[in-house]
Amino acid sequence: MDEVGIGIVGYGMMGRAHAYGYELAPRIRELPVTPRVRVISGRNAAAVEAAAERYGVPEFTTEWTELVSREDVDIVDVCTPPGTHAEIVAAAAAAGKAVLCEKPLAADYRSARAAADAAQAAGVLNAIGFNYRRLPALALLKRMVDEGAVGEILLWRATWQSDEFLDPAIPFDWRFERAMGASTIADLGTHLIDLALWVVGEIDEVTAQSETFTRERSGRHVDVDESSSCLVGFTGGVRGTFELSRVCARRPCDFVVEVNGTHGTLRFDYSNLNELWYGDTTDDGNLYGLRRIRAEHPQHPYAAAWWPIGQGVGYGTSFVNQAADLLERWPAGPWAPDLEQGARVQAVCEAMERAADERRWVRVGEVTR
Ligand SMILES: NC(=O)c1ccc[n+]([C@@H]2O[C@H](COP(=O)([O-])OP(=O)(O)OC[C@H]3O[C@@H](n4cnc5c(N)ncnc54)[C@H](O)[C@@H]3O)[C@@H](O)[C@H]2O)c1
Repeated sequence: MDEVGIGIVGYGMMGRAHAYGYELAPRIRELPVTPRVRVISGRNAAAVEAAAERYGVPEFTTEWTELVSREDVDIVDVCTPPGTHAEIVAAAAAAGKAVLCEKPLAADYRSARAAADAAQAAGVLNAIGFNYRRLPALALLKRMVDEGAVGEILLWRATWQSDEFLDPAIPFDWRFERAMGASTIADLGTHLIDLALWVVGEIDEVTAQSETFTRERSGRHVDVDESSSCLVGFTGGVRGTFELSRVCARRPCDFVVEVNGTHGTLRFDYSNLNELWYGDTTDDGNLYGLRRIRAEHPQHPYAAAWWPIGQGVGYGTSFVNQAADLLERWPAGPWAPDLEQGARVQAVCEAMERAADERRWVRVGEVTR
């Protein structure tokens, strides 16, 4: 079977998750090609060498520029902080490589636009790492909405609560610097905004408020919002809300999305990620409320490839499904969601950031024109 060579830029949490995805994908799904992660890069030689050994990657380099130009690398997988993405994507695309880039595509819309344009101009396959779409329950939510399970959508609601920035003693790192780590709106919000655009449609206008409670860490100024809440209007009149916060005590990575339509509600809560809650106004009154769907039935998206019903899947599954979805379409494509979607999401993020800074409603078109 043909092999596809992969080079992963960055060996941190996402480098590990993506390496895991490529390794497991052929065991879970029948694929037309075999993925081989051939090289991984990072700036610290000892650390990247140790990571390469742990992830089962045969070679490492301290120069990502070397990785993107290797002949045996077909796909460049970008797992570094957001502020570095655009430059790496552009170099990989110019070298004729397919690109998978972690979210958010960049720390600002201009860089995101440039990255998407570079991939488009080079004509290479490209994808953005909105992995949560590949969880069975969220893929099922999308399918059910498309099939009319809630009727016409009226409202969208999404919250993400974590405690990762709560402790003022956490030392400064790239996540606290907006130009490198992006805003919390972009870091956490990209996933939820992607889901909203995917399930509901385009967002026209937004307003937002943001707060940073700890403005200095390790003697350095923090310019990243720790908590933001946003109101949005979609094309066609659907209204929505987002709350993105990293200062919620004892909340680990709790995200919830809910869609309310003319005759139904669907709700997903990440703390029970194999489930979906559904209510339908045509139900008998005795059944009033939301019922719990176990998104593990063989007819549900992704489920048949995994474990017997009742065993469930986890976070890692989204990376295996992501790798399998992309490799399944190698080399013809198309890949989705692509970097263009990454740029569309980034435009909404920037509109929210501007709205919070200027305390007003902002049209997304103000950012993209
Ligand atoms: N999809 C998800 O579920 C998810 C989860 C966490 C992070 N992410 C995203 O993945 C990306 C990486 O996050 P992470 O948690 O793996 O970070 P991390 O800090 O664990 O790892 C970052 C990697 O990038 C390298 N790096 C750091 N600064 C760099 C620079 N200036 N130039 C080049 N390389 C640099 C580091 O050496 C390390 O290898 C971010 O864009 C983040 O938003 C996605």
